Amino acid sequence: MKITSAEFVVSAVGPKQYPTDGLPEIALVGRSNVGKSSLLNKMMNRKGLARTSSKPGKTQTLNYFRVNNMLYFVDFPGYGYAKVAKSLKQQWGKMIENYLKQRQELRFVIQLVDIRHAPSKDDVAMYDWCKEIGIPTVVVATKGDKIARGRWLQHTKVIREQLQLRGDDALIVFSSETGQGRDELWGEIVRRLRQ
Ligand code: GTP
Ligand code: MG
Repeated sequence: MKITSAEFVVSAVGPKQYPTDGLPEIALVGRSNVGKSSLLNKMMNRKGLARTSSKPGKTQTLNYFRVNNMLYFVDFPGYGYAKVAKSLKQQWGKMIENYLKQRQELRFVIQLVDIRHAPSKDDVAMYDWCKEIGIPTVVVATKGDKIARGRWLQHTKVIREQLQLRGDDALIVFSSETGQGRDELWGEIVRRLRQ
């Protein structure tokens, strides 16, 4: 995908701040530190546009990025980060739940899991929950550069089994370091937006 424009639009804490131009939205979900913001920067070819950090819990609001005046990526706060106060966690949960359940513009979710590890309970719960409420999900295994290419299949097999993906469900290996998977993910996005 050729990126002609990519811009940060708003850090939303609730529906009042969501954009009103009706462009389709794609939400990024996954554990804290799995690489959601890094993936977005790679997809948009804009280093540092989405703020990243080696410390989990960097993204705390719904951050909207408009790309090619065609879609919004919505960068989510990560789940499963223990050090965040309970009340804050509940607040995050509500905001995310309301967005996922009610946002008309949401077309699908990109769920990120770390290629090195079996999906966590939270990952499975998130995946199942999206399925239950009928939100299509594209699963991406991040940090592909952290293991040898020869071991990808073995690791993606575990992810497929744990999330109970069907044979024809896409599972894309991605690396924000090398750009692995970027074209494939853009292909999947464009295909789904055309449907
Ligand atoms: P929260 O905002 O806390 O939910 O985290 P996040 O999911 O947005 O993760 P973020 O993109 O901030 O990345 C977390 C850390 O993982 C950073 O140190 C990144 O540099 C690193 N990282 C992300 N993606 C990759 C990748 O593909 N390969 C490698 N080697 N490191 C990555
Ligand atoms: Mg982030």
